[in-house]
Amino acid sequence: MSFLRKFTAFAVVLSLVLNVYIFTYPSLDSKHCSWSYQKRIPRDDPQWLKPLRSVPYFSDLIDQYLYPPVFEVPKVPDIKMLAFGDPQIKGNWPSTPYIKRLDTYGNDYYLGHIYQVMKHRLQPTIVAPLGDLFSSQWISDSEFFNRTRRYVTRLFDQPDEQREYAINIVNEHVDIDWRKFLEETKGTDLKDFEFGYSDVYDWCTPNYAKRFANEPLFINVSGNHDIGYSGDATWQHMARYRSLFGKDNYWIEYNRGTPHAYRIVVLNSLLLEGPALQPEFLNYTWEFLYQLFERKFDGATILLTHVPFYKEEGFCVDGPHFEYYENYEREPYKNGKLRSQNHLSKDVSQRVLSLVFDENPGIVLTGHDHEGCETYYNLNTTSGEWSATKEKSNKPGVVREVTVRAMMGEYGGNSGLMTGHFNKMQGRWEFDFNLCPFIIQHVWWVTKIATIVAVILSSTVFIFAL
Ligand SMILES: *[C@@H]1O[C@H](CO)[C@@H](O)[C@H](O)[C@H]1NC(C)=O
Ligand SMILES: *[C@@H]1O[C@H](CO)[C@@H](O)[C@H](O)[C@H]1NC(C)=O
Repeated sequence: MSFLRKFTAFAVVLSLVLNVYIFTYPSLDSKHCSWSYQKRIPRDDPQWLKPLRSVPYFSDLIDQYLYPPVFEVPKVPDIKMLAFGDPQIKGNWPSTPYIKRLDTYGNDYYLGHIYQVMKHRLQPTIVAPLGDLFSSQWISDSEFFNRTRRYVTRLFDQPDEQREYAINIVNEHVDIDWRKFLEETKGTDLKDFEFGYSDVYDWCTPNYAKRFANEPLFINVSGNHDIGYSGDATWQHMARYRSLFGKDNYWIEYNRGTPHAYRIVVLNSLLLEGPALQPEFLNYTWEFLYQLFERKFDGATILLTHVPFYKEEGFCVDGPHFEYYENYEREPYKNGKLRSQNHLSKDVSQRVLSLVFDENPGIVLTGHDHEGCETYYNLNTTSGEWSATKEKSNKPGVVREVTVRAMMGEYGGNSGLMTGHFNKMQGRWEFDFNLCPFIIQHVWWVTKIATIVAVILSSTVFIFAL
């Protein structure tokens, strides 16, 4: 009995410590888990709090829960974006063993936990998972629906108004008629495609004016696993992505015509080069870039896309790599088509950087390589060439590309924090990025199991004691 009591006490303490950890982990690395450019207004803490301030973890907890600091409010509000790389949620097949199913189930909540903790802590204005939401493009519509449901309820929990549309399609198993989509698309002149929005703060309200006080604008970005590489993307893939996640290419302009204009550009970088299974898709994506360029936008650009730009071997874990279908017997019509790519090609990178940024400032957030990387692209204004370097720079004419380390458990459950701040002295937007890691999924699992064990043991001890 006394052993059981001791063990119970141990289990309770362990589960408390673990729970405190998983709910307060950003406080352990508050520098990387907070927005940049925040200016605290100095003031005195109550006397009893002062000794705790010397430990950064406690100091951050005080800020979060006890005595929130006051920050200077900039005239032009900062852009606060939470970006996530490659959640890649898996699915179950009839042959999937139960332990694997449990793992997949828990993984949804592990990712959802990260989102909830970060959202609560940071109150982002924008949330953007950077593609590869799912682990495979080779899934049926029914499985695509089911993963979408998990995505909007377990991973990135949203107000019902925001996910209502997707949930309806999913619950009612609406037939997505890709042939109709094909005919409509082919029947539309390229010039007539619409890609643009302006001043969107909430997708659900008329004129997109901000409504939910603390709800971020949710931005979907497509990856190779959501629609496909150009050698395997079909009309069916495109139709279902568009019906559930919206356009794969678009821009949102903010404050156009003011000195503090900026825009968000979402680009499906998988459909820029081929050989493609459906070359129409490439025309459509390039048309988007031409129209974007024609906007002659005078302001900063935040480019969100899945595949990183070209850089030589050694810059990031992934070097340049292209693979084409060869002797592919299962689907011989794909032979010769683009099967996978790590980066955009050198030539396409140059063209896209020039079309999107021209000589304006900005930042690029990408996913795809899982490991994460940072590169700076310098425009040589004489030759018009962009060159990649590792050298940090905040100068005009330099575009920083952040490949956001994956959100998956194996990579530590990362969140990317991108802050945009309008520098009034210089009259231009500046951008900064921080990576806030959690920990491999096993720790989250152990916490859940320890909590269950602690609850069972303490009830047992309690009943015996009666
Ligand atoms: C998706 O979910 C529905 C309802 O839960 C189920 O009937 C269907 O079999 C699932 N689809 C797949 C491919 O597992
Ligand atoms: C983004 O995807 C979610 C999930 O399918 C959906 O609810 C939402 O409407 C999409 N956003 C847009 C702008 O289409």
